[in-house]
Amino acid sequence: MISIRRKILIMMTVVVSISSLVQAGGKEAYDNAGCAGCHGATGKSMIPLYPRLNGQNAAYIVKQLKDFQSGVRKDPVMSAMAKMAVGKEQEIANYLANQ
Ligand code: HEC
Repeated sequence: MISIRRKILIMMTVVVSISSLVQAGGKEAYDNAGCAGCHGATGKSMIPLYPRLNGQNAAYIVKQLKDFQSGVRKDPVMSAMAKMAVGKEQEIANYLANQ
């Protein structure tokens, strides 16, 4: 018989590992898409030309990426870069929001 305490501990461990996996996925997607080159490793860009994305509202980031992709928002750099994030918008946004 596994004690109730042990069961809770196991469940908590599973939840923590899943959430760190999701986080790692977001970082991987952000790195693979080449975003860090301009916006910084964790979104804390030090270059005034490139906006800081760390701590930004995830829904806002997703909307901006989709707007760049659809052409509603235009920028010579980001219109192209946003296409690298297709299908990963939410994952990347969650990662940045947590920085
Ligand atoms: C070559 C440099 C460069 C790269 C690489 C780049 N960006 Fe950007 N990003 C910019 C610039 C410049 C802007 C500001 C555009 C503007 O003035 O509208 C911007 C703006 C943004 C914004 C809007 C921020 C706001 O406050 O509205 C988001 C979100 C964003 N980038 C996400 C990303 C993601 C995600 C990636 C990777 C797929 C990425 N960027 C890659 C240069 C870059």
